[in-house]
Amino acid sequence: MGLESEQSRLLLSKIATSDRHGENSPYFDGWKAYDRDPFHPTNNPQGVIQMGLAENQLSLDLIEDWIRKNPKASICTAEGVNEFKNVAIFQDYHGFPEFRKAIAKFMSKVRGGRVTFDPERIVMGGGATGANELVTFCLADPGDAFLVPSPCYPAFGRDLGWRTGVQVLPFQCDSSNGFQVTKKALEAAYNKARENNINVKGLIITNPSNPLGTTLDRDTLVELVSFINEKNIHLVCDEIYAATVFNSPNFVSVSEIIQDMEYVNRDLIHVVYSLSKDMGLPGFRVGIVYSYNDLVVQCARKMSSFGLVSSQTQHLLASMLSDEEFVENFLKESSKRLAKRYNTFTKGLEQVGITCLKSNAGLFFWMDLRRLLKEQTIEGEMELWRVIINEVKLNVSPGSSFHCSEFGWFRVCFANMDDETVKVALDRIRVFVCRGKEEDEQQQPASTVNTKRWKTNLRLSFSSRRHDHQEGVMSPHMMSPHSPMPHSPLVRART
Ligand SMILES: Cc1ncc(COP(=O)(O)O)c(C=O)c1O
Repeated sequence: MGLESEQSRLLLSKIATSDRHGENSPYFDGWKAYDRDPFHPTNNPQGVIQMGLAENQLSLDLIEDWIRKNPKASICTAEGVNEFKNVAIFQDYHGFPEFRKAIAKFMSKVRGGRVTFDPERIVMGGGATGANELVTFCLADPGDAFLVPSPCYPAFGRDLGWRTGVQVLPFQCDSSNGFQVTKKALEAAYNKARENNINVKGLIITNPSNPLGTTLDRDTLVELVSFINEKNIHLVCDEIYAATVFNSPNFVSVSEIIQDMEYVNRDLIHVVYSLSKDMGLPGFRVGIVYSYNDLVVQCARKMSSFGLVSSQTQHLLASMLSDEEFVENFLKESSKRLAKRYNTFTKGLEQVGITCLKSNAGLFFWMDLRRLLKEQTIEGEMELWRVIINEVKLNVSPGSSFHCSEFGWFRVCFANMDDETVKVALDRIRVFVCRGKEEDEQQQPASTVNTKRWKTNLRLSFSSRRHDHQEGVMSPHMMSPHSPMPHSPLVRART
């Protein structure tokens, strides 16, 4: 940085100049690599395929279809414009009552109708990003900490900590039990923080998990709730992937757990939700804080002025989510499509000997490439990741960016592309794996060849020749949002 810009930095706030946004990580470097050279089936077939984006684009046609059939639901149509004035001037931070009612009902539906939600407790946030920050602002002061089991969502540091000054302390879970959080690990993390004089205000979990794609079972949830209850700290459950469950076991929400437990201080329990993943609407910025604590509801509601959902979006969704038949069909069909895509991908990988953590939810899976590492270190993981991104041209995200303590795991997103792109991605992986084996065989006497050793030969047959392509052309195959401007990873740092 030049002297001039260093001086102008000094004029800014500590928040503005801190690097707690976390953009300097391989996670975002992958995004940059994609932005520089995005795959396009005809214009740039050798480009990078974006598999680092947890977006659900598999069922958007159902929503488009509903919109076509319900033009009155939008204020920007001839059929709906009569409501334009009423909606456009609305600015109440409680939100439209019909919107809160519809969201509460939808949340209940997603949880199999086993729990109900009170519309009076629905507080709006700008996506789950805003909702997570909002609830943190209500629960903790600068310097206080939240524990989070890892591997965890990489942007928690930013969402919970950047502007609030709260610390996020990941604690390790490992592959020996499928990365499930245990009371022992939680207790150890809590005690360690206390020994370091850190004031632990709570625990945050994502259920279903990003990046694992697994759900927490009832017993684990009971254990976590008992733990926070005993320590008198908060539990924030980010349930943003609740309706992405596509296989058994079913999703169990913390709301069901506290309903069934004999004694829980409900003031400690807070659910964060969003329509970004379950409905594939991240651009709508619909985030929800649902707290069982009256004071948190009151305070969060006042604070929500900084991140409201636009009245136009509320109006449309109130109508859409009240359509029970649509919601029922959407949820069923979405999970069917996710299951199909997950199976196509993981079976394709299995055929070339790549395994993944068994999962039942989410928009991604957790791929195990440990045996391909030259060394079981972060450097080994980064070396492999660079081969995957620069030569195989797939932007998958390395486990270390999710604070995973075991090296060689990668998160692969599977719901942000069409079937053709899936084929291309799988073909590239096949070529990558087969080429590695062939080179190994050429270099080793046949009798000593085994699949493990080709990890020392991670060279690819891919042409490094760049194909000409129009910068920023929106690809019909790669359904990710693209603007003609080069993207800053800051813009899309959330997934
Ligand atoms: C666990 C988790 N929480 C929050 C978010 C942010 O979601 P939103 O787009 O609703 O802000 C994401 C997005 O990837 C996520 O995976």
